[in-house]
Amino acid sequence: MTAAASRRLIDAARSLLPRAAAPYSRFRVAAALEDAAGEIHPGVNVESVSYGLTMCAERNALFGAMARGAQGFRRIAIVSSGSGPVVPCGACRQVLLEYAPDLIVILSGAGAEPVEEIPIRELLPRPFVSFDRTDP
Ligand code: THU
Repeated sequence: MTAAASRRLIDAARSLLPRAAAPYSRFRVAAALEDAAGEIHPGVNVESVSYGLTMCAERNALFGAMARGAQGFRRIAIVSSGSGPVVPCGACRQVLLEYAPDLIVILSGAGAEPVEEIPIRELLPRPFVSFDRTDP
C-alpha cells in the first residue's frame, strides 16, 4: 500500500466532511471505505436530537457499502473536523471486524499525510464473533 494511495483515501474522506450532520457535538467525522474493486464508499456521522440515535461515520460507510453489494473491504480512512486523529469507537470496531476482518484503518490529523495505519484486528483483541445457541 503506497503513501499516495493512503493520501487519496484521506482526501476522499476529507471531501465528505461538509456532509456530516453534527449540530450537537459540532465534531464532524467522515470515513472513506475502499472495497476489493477499488470503489470508495462514503460515510459521515449523523446526529439526532435524541443523542443516543447518532450514527458514526464508519458504520454509515460500512452499512451503505454492504447495501450496495460491496465486498472485500481493504482500507478505511477516517478524518474529522478536529485537529488530531480519530480512532473508531468500540461499536464501530466490532462491526468493522465482523464484516471487514482484514481492514487497515488509516488515521489522519489535520493534514493529508496518514498519521498511523492500524489493522482492525489490533484495535479489537479477543473479539466476540460467534456464539453457540443452546435453546432450540
Ligand atoms: N464519531 C464518529 O462518527 N466516529 C468516531 O470514530 C468517533 C465518534 C462521532 C459520533 C458523534 O456524532 C461525534 O463523533 C462525537 O462523538
